[in-house]
Amino acid sequence: MAKHKIAYLPGDGVGNDVLEAARIVLGTLRLDAQFVPGDVGWEFWCNEGNPLPDRTVEMLKTTDCCLFGAITSKPGEEAAKELAPHLLGQGYVYFSPIVKLRQMFNLHTNIRPCKAFKGNPLNHRDDIDIVVFRENTEGLYSGVELHPVPREVMAFLANYQPKAKRFIHVSPEDLAISVRVFTRQACHSIVNQAFLYAGQHGYRTVTVVEKANVLRMTGGLFLAEARKVAAQFPDIELWETNVDAMCMWLVKNPQIYGVLCAGNMFGDIISDLAAQLVGGLGFASSANIGDEYALFEPTHGSAPKYAGLNKVNPLAAILSAQLMLTYLKEDDKAQVLEDAVARVIAEGKVRTYDMGGSASTTDMAEEVAKFCR
Ligand SMILES: NC(=O)c1ccc[n+]([C@@H]2O[C@H](COP(=O)([O-])OP(=O)(O)OC[C@H]3O[C@@H](n4cnc5c(N)ncnc54)[C@H](O)[C@@H]3O)[C@@H](O)[C@H]2O)c1
Repeated sequence: MAKHKIAYLPGDGVGNDVLEAARIVLGTLRLDAQFVPGDVGWEFWCNEGNPLPDRTVEMLKTTDCCLFGAITSKPGEEAAKELAPHLLGQGYVYFSPIVKLRQMFNLHTNIRPCKAFKGNPLNHRDDIDIVVFRENTEGLYSGVELHPVPREVMAFLANYQPKAKRFIHVSPEDLAISVRVFTRQACHSIVNQAFLYAGQHGYRTVTVVEKANVLRMTGGLFLAEARKVAAQFPDIELWETNVDAMCMWLVKNPQIYGVLCAGNMFGDIISDLAAQLVGGLGFASSANIGDEYALFEPTHGSAPKYAGLNKVNPLAAILSAQLMLTYLKEDDKAQVLEDAVARVIAEGKVRTYDMGGSASTTDMAEEVAKFCR
């Protein structure tokens, strides 16, 4: 029996290309693993009315972790039109499988390293080394949303919060609400993990990114927990920044930041910004970690126009596999892989189109594999 059992979910579009590239590299590293393929994505929405079939969920439960490619996702009404004829009008509602997986397996911590590899022509600077910790299951992505908003809901809210009164007379159809839900436990946990990581990896600061001057309740709770946690880590400074200012500072002085920590939506936004400073989507890896399970994925989507062309940059997926190796406590292999990626980028002989080159997805994977040998 293999040492690790890994669910392998390529999903849609270029998800297949980049996960195959990651497999080439993991094969060269002789990772003792069994990969179990699973169904997820658009095809299964269209033909089964479920982009994340139950059989896939059951399979995931038998594995140690998951390597995920990318999925195609569309707004509800558009998705409904693409259902197979026999499924039309039967009440199927589209949902994002990746958001569902994060919630279903309580993958509460999203980690996105944004490190500049020297020699990458896309770097804004070569001295950027940021790691974003994003709360992954709550906030504005909790899925607590209403449209139309029943009148009794507005009346109920106005009872507790006079500011809601001005919406009471708006027609339910003309009103939509997305609720930003924060629990103290999740705020505490994400900040605590950010500080632990900073301590273990030699970062001097944790910057909490919020907007507590306007979002006083949720932002206030997040900050209060951050200050409590920070008191336990006297050697690491807590910096507090509003999300709007953070975007500006990240463009201006990215090199001064270490670990960033935020709720779900702000974390989503600033991690894309930080990733772009060190090469963009072709380099942006991520880990979704829970207490019992973890899923690793490049942060890019299915890039349909490049699907099957063997053209996109697989480094985001390969670096996600590296995060997986660390999770599986295969630290030596993780280090070999990171060094190999660094050498390929520094040498600059093999570059995909986004780096100004013409190498294919497979060329890049084989070049990384060469340095892993
Ligand atoms: N986690 C996910 O699976 C995920 C994330 C984002 C978007 N999506 C979905 O993907 C589909 C396409 O979305 P999109 O076009 O907005 O975003 P995308 O990330 O798929 O692609 C946007 C553009 O970025 C570039 N790009 C993406 N990955 C790249 C790579 N590895 N190397 C080089 N260049 C790369 C390409 O130019 C591409 O056209 C949509 O259906 C969207 O909902 C899924």
